[in-house]
Amino acid sequence: MAFVELKGVGLLEAQAHVWNHILGYTNSMSLKCALQLGIPDIIHHHGRPITLSELLTALAISSTKTDSLWRLMRILVHSGFIARGTNRNEEETYLLTPSSQLLVKENSMNMLAFAQVGVGPLLTTPWNSLGAWFRQPESTCFEMANGTTFWDLASQHPELNNLFNEAMANDTRLLMTVVVRDCSEVFRSLRSLVDVGGGTGTTARIISEAFPHIKCTILDLPHVVAASPESTMINSIGGDIIVQWILHDWSDEDCVKILRRCKEAIPSKEEGGKVIILDMVVNEDMRHHKSTETQLFFDMMMMVNFGGKERSEFEWLKIFTDAGFTQYKIKPILDVRSIMEIYP
Ligand SMILES: C[S@@+](CC[C@H](N)C(=O)[O-])C[C@H]1O[C@@H](n2cnc3c(N)ncnc32)[C@H](O)[C@@H]1O
Repeated sequence: MAFVELKGVGLLEAQAHVWNHILGYTNSMSLKCALQLGIPDIIHHHGRPITLSELLTALAISSTKTDSLWRLMRILVHSGFIARGTNRNEEETYLLTPSSQLLVKENSMNMLAFAQVGVGPLLTTPWNSLGAWFRQPESTCFEMANGTTFWDLASQHPELNNLFNEAMANDTRLLMTVVVRDCSEVFRSLRSLVDVGGGTGTTARIISEAFPHIKCTILDLPHVVAASPESTMINSIGGDIIVQWILHDWSDEDCVKILRRCKEAIPSKEEGGKVIILDMVVNEDMRHHKSTETQLFFDMMMMVNFGGKERSEFEWLKIFTDAGFTQYKIKPILDVRSIMEIYP
């Protein structure tokens, strides 16, 4: 195929696009560095906009690194994690943004454990063998790199199990606070609910607090349940079912199997049984470029590390139909995630 002939600015723009993507890890690694240094906590505890020299002192960093710290702060401003201002002395100052407030330890909805797992070597190293993986039989790059699945590794290493469970609980606290407030009609008529893959029970606790009439039960792997504050492994389940950030961990075939089992367990169509799914619905509409990009990042991460995927509405519909469900509702109100209700 012949090359599209590029000249002048067009050629340089094409080159800049390649550079931008070669160095795309810079945002993740700069954020990781900010967390390693504890910059969001320091700014939070400072109680007012912080200057570079105050930050340097609080970090106990040598003044030889002043320029490097300024450059780190500049890219964090660019990526939306720091807001820049000036004080009465015309010095540059730094403040947290809504996103970096979620990276402060004292914030009960902080995403620190999620960030630690997400940019840590366990989930980032497998990416290096993505090209090779396409020609290998292993089901994920993660298995190629570690010889086992993430879930098996977590069952063998309590510190990984605890970190991952905390990462999920962080995320759930944030998501479910919005869900019970903005989607209360989904839950109001329920009497009992089983949280499949409910982790250490955060979803169930938030639903029980918001809707005390709903009896919630959690189903998860033994090592996860054992680390939970107050839940029990159950063998037989009854009531409606919620699967919160579960199905994206699994292949289409496994999702169909999981949902078929859910369908057997929920009340019948006549009794109003349903399965509630919280997951992403990939929207490739270019008007939502940032949200779509986040969804596609997740999709690739799920492929590399878990053998799962993020799905479009069309793909979800096929799974629901194959699992024997006849009706569904999707509310795309949670930015990158949606709440779906499916009926037998
Ligand atoms: C992405 S996490 C979601 C956790 C929880 N729903 C939340 O949002 O906090 C997936 C959960 O599925 C659980 N899981 C994995 N394999 C499972 C299995 N075979 N049976 C039950 N749970 C499983 C994991 O232990 C983990 O808690």
